[in-house]
Amino acid sequence: MSASENEWFDLIAVNKLEAGDVTPVEFNDVLLAVYDTRDGITVSDARCTHAGADLCDGYFDGRYIECPLHQGLFDAVSGQAKAAPVTKALTMFECRVQKGVVQIKSGPV
Ligand code: FES
Repeated sequence: MSASENEWFDLIAVNKLEAGDVTPVEFNDVLLAVYDTRDGITVSDARCTHAGADLCDGYFDGRYIECPLHQGLFDAVSGQAKAAPVTKALTMFECRVQKGVVQIKSGPV
């Protein structure tokens, strides 16, 4: 494992997040979704694994994100696909909060 695989990168200040909702953040030209879940902050690729819709435009209930295009459902904590038509899990990113800033590791979990 190279040193760069262990690097943490600043994503967004916690106080800039939509409380209890999902916030879009672009990182290295990739659109990410930052979820303020009931179980803490999580981060995924924002593109739905079904047909690429932006999940940040979907309905989020504090745990599950519903895709705005065909209403597929994902668990925003595990990334698992929970309801058709989605079958493939979301790519999740390891994240943490340091000094009020959400950080992610460079690669997906
Ligand atoms: S694009 Fe998300 S369910 Fe189809």
